[in-house]
Amino acid sequence: MNEFLERYTAYRELIDRRLSNVIDRDEPVTMYEPARYVLSGGGKRIRPVLVMLACQAAGGDPMDAVDAGVAVEILHNFTLVHDDIMDRADTRRGRETVHRKWDENIAILVGDELMGIAYKTLLNTERGDVRALTRVFTEGVIEVCEGQSYDKEFEALPSVTEEQYLMMIGKKTGWLVAISAEMGAIIAGADAAQTAALVEYGRCVGRAFQVQDDLLDVVADKKTFGKPIGGDIIEGKKTFLLVHALSGATGEDLDLLHAVATHTAPAVELVERVTAVYEKLGVLEDARKKIQKDTSAALQALERLDDNQGRRMLAWFAEMLLERQY
Ligand code: IPE
Ligand code: IPE
Ligand code: MG
Ligand code: MG
Ligand code: MG
Repeated sequence: MNEFLERYTAYRELIDRRLSNVIDRDEPVTMYEPARYVLSGGGKRIRPVLVMLACQAAGGDPMDAVDAGVAVEILHNFTLVHDDIMDRADTRRGRETVHRKWDENIAILVGDELMGIAYKTLLNTERGDVRALTRVFTEGVIEVCEGQSYDKEFEALPSVTEEQYLMMIGKKTGWLVAISAEMGAIIAGADAAQTAALVEYGRCVGRAFQVQDDLLDVVADKKTFGKPIGGDIIEGKKTFLLVHALSGATGEDLDLLHAVATHTAPAVELVERVTAVYEKLGVLEDARKKIQKDTSAALQALERLDDNQGRRMLAWFAEMLLERQY
């Protein structure tokens, strides 16, 4: 194992351990059983690791950033529980989603509770300007909710522009990744230039991350991915792929894509047929290029920071995410 992967694994295990201890009660059972289920479900833990690495890159001690990292991860998990209700998804991280295993009311409430636990954990942070940290975190909550709102609004539209798409993913996904980097900078007491470079890195990584998530919805292996394949197609999501395909298709292909976008396509074999059209139009390749471009921009933003182990880890991290299969 290389030195970077070793460190990522160690940080990830640390976050997992902390997540398994944040809930200190058992009752009501219908609250805490599913809440524990969510937090123990694995996941890549990229946001908390980013908080730690950004802190280190800005000259701080990554261990000072663990509480803030755990808080962002809990917030992220809350958004996933509600996202799965909104997207009608049956599986996540290879297991049944909360609203399927229990029910929707439980999933709504568990999400709310997780948000409270996230704030409680954030407030354990002892280094840096905790008020600034809380402000950034709170803006993150608001932006994610706005992003999710646009995501659902766009589902109902026949098409959206690339600009609208990028705005929406910047909020629903990019923002939390960007604030992860920003929170690390705040804890380290970074100056304005360091903070701006880290936020820019986070924004670019976050954008690449969602385009890749859209791509994986179509090309991933079902078992590895842990989420339903083709769920975005079935839900008529305005993903990077659909947005680009709609602007390049003609004839029967365009009819099919329109039907997907307006939820009027017959479900039978839909995913397979749409995937074939995506392949034919080259939009899978366009997505790969976009991910590569945003990753390069993230690496460029890092150049504005002094070289240290944290910065080198962040560079490795952005490249490692390019290879992810889930
Ligand atoms: C999934 O996030 C939701 C998106 C923003 C695409 P992750 O891909 O980080 O999910 P986990 O936490 O690793 O399961
Ligand atoms: C993720 O969007 C955005 C948030 C959860 C805030 P998706 O709906 O694409 O995420 P997955 O694919 O279900 O993980
Ligand atoms: Mg969603
Ligand atoms: Mg979803
Ligand atoms: Mg997705």
